[in-house]
Amino acid sequence: MNYRCMQISDYDAVMKLWRDCEGLSLRDADSASGVEKYLERNPGLSFVALDGTRIVGSIMAGHDGKRGYIQHLAVGEELRGLGVASELVGRCLSALKSQGIEKSHVHVLKDNALGRRYWSGRGWTERSEVVMYSFINGENDNA
Ligand SMILES: CC(C)(COP(=O)(O)OP(=O)(O)OC[C@H]1O[C@@H](n2cnc3c(N)ncnc32)[C@H](O)[C@@H]1OP(=O)(O)O)[C@@H](O)C(=O)NCCC(=O)NCCS
Repeated sequence: MNYRCMQISDYDAVMKLWRDCEGLSLRDADSASGVEKYLERNPGLSFVALDGTRIVGSIMAGHDGKRGYIQHLAVGEELRGLGVASELVGRCLSALKSQGIEKSHVHVLKDNALGRRYWSGRGWTERSEVVMYSFINGENDNA
């Protein structure tokens, strides 16, 4: 398995991986232009895993100067349980730390049992005292 920073040219392969994975929420902000903007704004923080030349894993991250935000951790079903996600998360956290970020968050859909088990099994604390509120500033319900 090889690992490297995600590039916008990975978009089609990564989007296919995301679509094939249950538990990820994909929105219009995950369009090619949205992801390109995200990668430009957060250089060196998103990674892909490659089996040969095939993309089989991904993680994206950004930060606001205080906290890191991880999203779209995904590993192809046939390669799960081999530590690919843990390697991606490790790289991502190291990259965030090198930019001064020592605490990060990840949003997981409540009914994503696999995702919840993954994070809680690795020392991530479920924040039952926090409720998330979102607001769409416009007409697009899928923003
Ligand atoms: C959650 C997800 C990313 C985990 O990917 P993964 O590559 O299988 O994760 P890892 O291999 O690092 O760890 C998974 C399991 O393998 C085991 N494992 C870790 N390293 C291992 C290794 N070197 N050898 C064998 N097993 C290993 C772990 O114990 C873990 O088992 P557990 O969940 O019972 O504790 C993957 O299941 C997935 O893509 N799910 C769909 C998308 C999703 O829900 N994403 C998270 C929401 S943000």
